[in-house]
Amino acid sequence: MNEFTFYNPVKLIFGKGALENLPTEVSQYGKKVLVVYGGGSIKKNGVYEAVLNKLSSINCEVFELSGVEPNPRVETARKGIEICKQNEIDLVLAVGGGSVIDCSKLIAAGAKYEGDPWDFVIKKAFPNDALSLGTVLTLAATGSEMNAGSVITNTATEEKFGWGSPFVFPKFSILNPEFTFTVPKEHTVYGMVDIMSHVFEQYFHNATNTPITDEMCEGVLRTVIETAPKLINDLENYELRETILFAGTVGLNGFLSIGSRGDWATHDIEHSVSAIYDIPHGGGLAILFPHWMRHNVKYNPERFAKLATRVFNVDPNNKTVEEIAYEGINQLSEFWKSLGAPSKLSDYGIDDSKFDQMVSHSVDNGPLGNFRKLEADDVYEILRNAL
Ligand code: NZQ
Ligand code: ZN
Repeated sequence: MNEFTFYNPVKLIFGKGALENLPTEVSQYGKKVLVVYGGGSIKKNGVYEAVLNKLSSINCEVFELSGVEPNPRVETARKGIEICKQNEIDLVLAVGGGSVIDCSKLIAAGAKYEGDPWDFVIKKAFPNDALSLGTVLTLAATGSEMNAGSVITNTATEEKFGWGSPFVFPKFSILNPEFTFTVPKEHTVYGMVDIMSHVFEQYFHNATNTPITDEMCEGVLRTVIETAPKLINDLENYELRETILFAGTVGLNGFLSIGSRGDWATHDIEHSVSAIYDIPHGGGLAILFPHWMRHNVKYNPERFAKLATRVFNVDPNNKTVEEIAYEGINQLSEFWKSLGAPSKLSDYGIDDSKFDQMVSHSVDNGPLGNFRKLEADDVYEILRNAL
């Protein structure tokens, strides 16, 4: 294992009655609350009303920012920052999926900054303060509810980057699996692909002697693989939603990469695709991850073979390490396809016409990834194979 310091201050409040805690949590931070949400799903499923009721029970002064886009945009965060500055907001309350939470993180940090919030995303500046942030999560996927990261798109420049700061860890996150019942099948699948991809990104590292985190990663993957086919046919099953919701949080709250450094190249490549084509993040990962694996398997086939035998039950008898490794990757592709996830860029009508732009978006700040460094040629090859 690498040397490590682990820090995660998010108070996670999980279960059917989790929202009951909202008034107590909010009152610790003040009375003026900016509620941030997306395109209206929370108004249809009753979550908006439930949250507003809880806030009115403690006489909060509520301000709203609606319309946060999937793949949230810096322009929207700017609007939220303006509301915070004009009204001296105490707490930003994100009610939605990863996009709403990520946008709220930028709002919280931007409200305490004189310059433009895009500075944080491109690392021209770093936050040294932020408004308090709370979340009510409605979609299992990103882990943003329990991490300090955020991914923001700038449509004007067709860029999408991750940034982060310890100042934007949510103070609390409220997770009721029932709030995820209405997530459509398509987004439920994207969420599960994203969760599995986060685990893969952390499983493929170069640290040695990581048996605990290896087992944790493999356990999360096996559980998602077992749960996913049942959930897509039973979207309002509490226990299945509960399992996947918790998997999403564990998948990216830092726990799985304790003592190692994850890869993250596939995420960077996916961001360069969705920056231009605005496709769902999980859909992009479903297309790209098997190709990243096939591109890299030869550099450490033992690691891929371990994944194949322990997660995909590949029978190792009478096979070379490479054969076992490839069988695991093929099973992953087939599994995601069986859930209805896309498998080719052309499924989204994407051709090679903007590959140059995607590659330079990916590698302009240096080679990508940590398991193995990818140069521009590697990224081209992965994209070409994904066509
Ligand atoms: O906008 P509304 O109307 O709320 O609809 C959303 C949206 O259309 C809908 N939805 C959410 N909860 C729902 C629901 N529909 C019905 N019932 C509910 N309960 O689902 C759609 C997708 O929502 P979104 O928030 O975009 O999905 P997700 O949570 O997958 O977030 C994706 C974003 O997170 C970034 C991605 O790049 C992408 O921009 N990521 C953030 C990370 C982080 N902060 O740590 C890490 C990830 O790897 C990822 O990159
Ligand atoms: Zn992701």
